[in-house]
Formats: sequence, C-alpha cells, structure tokens
Amino acid sequence: MPNLGDVFPDFTADSTSGPIKFHEWLGDSWGIFFSHPADYTPVCTTELGHVASIMPEFQKRGLKAIAISCNKVDDHKGWIKDIQDYSKLGDTWPYPIVADPNRELAVKLGMLDPAEKDKAGLPLTARAVFIIGPDKKLKLSLLYPATTGRNFTEILRVIDSLKLTAEKKVATPANWKQGERCMVLPTVKPDECSTLFPKGVNTVAMPSGKGYMRFTPQPD
Ligand code: BEZ
Repeated sequence: MPNLGDVFPDFTADSTSGPIKFHEWLGDSWGIFFSHPADYTPVCTTELGHVASIMPEFQKRGLKAIAISCNKVDDHKGWIKDIQDYSKLGDTWPYPIVADPNRELAVKLGMLDPAEKDKAGLPLTARAVFIIGPDKKLKLSLLYPATTGRNFTEILRVIDSLKLTAEKKVATPANWKQGERCMVLPTVKPDECSTLFPKGVNTVAMPSGKGYMRFTPQPD
C-alpha cells in the first residue's frame, strides 16, 4: 500500500468509461479512489449509489471520483443498472468503475481483505479510500474491512481539511467542520502570527505553561 506522501502508483486499466491511465485521468485535480469487494454485493451497492448521489459535493471541492471492484467491465455495467434503480439515480452514472478481475491492482495497492473470500476462495478487496492531490501524491488513506460501509460525510469532511491545510498553515482539531476554528501549526513562530492570521490567534493557557494550543478562525 502506498504511504502518505508517496506518488500514487500510475496504472492503466479498463473501466466503465473505457481504458484509463490513472495519472492522465486525474490531470490537475484532486481525486478520490475507493475500492469495493465485489459487484452485486449489498453494502457496495449502497456505497456506490451514495457516491453517485453526492457527486456535486465532490465536484464543488474540485475532486474527481473513481471506484474499483474485482470484476469485469461487463459485470460492472450490469451492476450499475441495479445501483441506479436502488438509489433512484435515473440513467446517469457519473464516475468510472475500474475493472480488476485478476486482482492485479488490488494486490499492488495493498487492498485485499484476507477475512473475506469470493466463491472461488480468493480474497476480496477491502474498502480502501485513497485521496490523491493534484501533485499525484497520496494525501490520505483509510482502510475498512469489507463488512463495514464507509461514512461519506466524514470523507467530505476530511477533504475539506486536506484542502485547507494544504494551503494554510493550520491544522484542524477533533470533529472540525468547514467554517469552524482551526489550530495554528506548531511550526509557526509567534512573530509570524499577525501576518499569517489577520483574524487573530487565541492562545489557551495550559497547566504546562506551554503556548501550543493556538486557535484562529478558519483562514479565507
Ligand atoms: C458487501 O458489499 O455487502 C459485502 C461484500 C463482502 C463482504 C461483506 C459485505
């Protein structure tokens, strides 16, 4: 599995939108790449339908979405019809699903869940989430077992944090949401604060006497 900060492996694969060269497809955008254990499985059906329904949220944030499942494109295309029906999407399908019938990408990206096997006894892919920056580097990875569906509200929240903290010298505290106060990075010197954070910095007094709990309104 790639580590944070690594260039995400480039790959060429077939998908429901035709052959994809991953880096070329991503272009200058941020991207979310998420894996599914297998086509025609119930949890995946809810996840893929939900992602299709929140596509405007990804687009608003400048993100392209792409999924992968360990089956062939023809299986994906048949399954999409079920997902569209289940999630009431009409005939639209807004993002590609990569085919990985031989699990080559699943192995390369470290996405297999040894606890879950298909009918042939082969391990299924887990529910991995990779968020990749326009520089093609891995910014976040999450790995859920096949039996636990993901929380896409949390995924949108971390995207907001990743994009903010990529540009401003802040970090986001526990349960932060877009628009809430942020924390000044420990590497920012006190004499830099007024220039970097014109909205002000509030330093909370701590028993240690150390001034590391520095809050600032979310920078513009
Ligand atoms: C599912 O997507 O429903 C699923 C797939 C593999 C194992 C368990 C659940």
